[in-house]
Amino acid sequence: MAKSVEEVRAEIPFLRTGIIYLDNAATTPTPQPVLDAMLEYFREYGANVGRGLHRATRRATEAFEATRERLARVINAKPDEIAYTKNTTEAINIVAQGLKLRKGDKVVTTVLEHHSNLLPWQRLERERGVKLELVRVPRECLIDPAAVEAAIDDKTRLIATHHVSNAIGSIQPVEEIGKLAQDRGVLYLIDAAQAVGHMPIDVRKLGCDFLAAPGHKGLLGPQGTGFLYAREDRLTGLEPLLVGGGIVEQVEEHTHDLVKPPQIFDAGTPNIPGIIGLGRACEYVLEIGIERIAERERKLTEQMLRIADLEHIEVYGPRGTEQRGGVVSFNISGLGHHDVASMLDELAQIAVRSGHHCAQPTMRLLGVEGTVRASVHYYNLEGEIERFTTTLEQIAREFGD
Ligand code: ALA
Repeated sequence: MAKSVEEVRAEIPFLRTGIIYLDNAATTPTPQPVLDAMLEYFREYGANVGRGLHRATRRATEAFEATRERLARVINAKPDEIAYTKNTTEAINIVAQGLKLRKGDKVVTTVLEHHSNLLPWQRLERERGVKLELVRVPRECLIDPAAVEAAIDDKTRLIATHHVSNAIGSIQPVEEIGKLAQDRGVLYLIDAAQAVGHMPIDVRKLGCDFLAAPGHKGLLGPQGTGFLYAREDRLTGLEPLLVGGGIVEQVEEHTHDLVKPPQIFDAGTPNIPGIIGLGRACEYVLEIGIERIAERERKLTEQMLRIADLEHIEVYGPRGTEQRGGVVSFNISGLGHHDVASMLDELAQIAVRSGHHCAQPTMRLLGVEGTVRASVHYYNLEGEIERFTTTLEQIAREFGD
């Protein structure tokens, strides 16, 4: 039986504080079974991985490696195509540094990216003379695949776009972009930070070469975890960011041979409890059902979007929920975004994020300093959204102009 909203809520200790948590795009609260899996590691077999032969290290290695198979199940990949990282940012940096792009090579991305999918390419532009083109996007914040295609030339090696905008919530046409990347023989990286766990993802269908995602957002796993999917043949060509202990076959005084991917990305002692917790978190979202999560978030978002009809409020991005994930970004005229967020917290213990959401070029596109952002997950209640909309209505009525 799939887990109901009530069952999930009962298993998230953080919600007992009475908070109305609408900041799920930043990070999500952790369910007890995920906490239990990590505590079990600390209490019963807290050894290192891939080293030694005693039973605790064997058990830890087995539990650590099992998470690859679970992540693979979530995105329809093979376990050997999954590299563990500490977050999405690290996953994107592995690709940016690992591809060994050279002067004259071109990377195509968009003005709507989170900084984590922009700064790594800017660094290549600055340090290696890689050409970076940022595709313009209309105010609705939906990428036009034709504009991406127009940016591809014979020097283009990689396209890098997000799947769901963290700042605005728009869902991008990643399958179409994946197809055109394949047709033009260009690599495609998807920043799926706001998509994995929130909606069904099939990397084969998306036609991407790389997909980067966190463990602590849609997947309800612990902070400090993330992963990089790379198609089997692509992973083999990537150099790890770090080299050192735990990933070697043979070391001489001046040379070394490293293990094969994906373990080649696990230099040093990795985040063993975090990765074990992430494995349990994958099982947890699969128990709820990712289709069910997507459907529920769509309903809650539709309810949140009613604020677009209120006086003094401007909501950014697509009006309907067809092209929108569980994120609603807005401003109240005459009020600063941080002021609105503080009032929501003070008046009703509602947690939202305010600011530029690590997407300053997106804010410039909209002509604003920042926005207020509310973001949901499966466990949020209709009653919580009702409280959010009525509190906002009160704030807009009293202070908006
Ligand atoms: N990237 C996270 C967010 O959008 C932190 O809030």
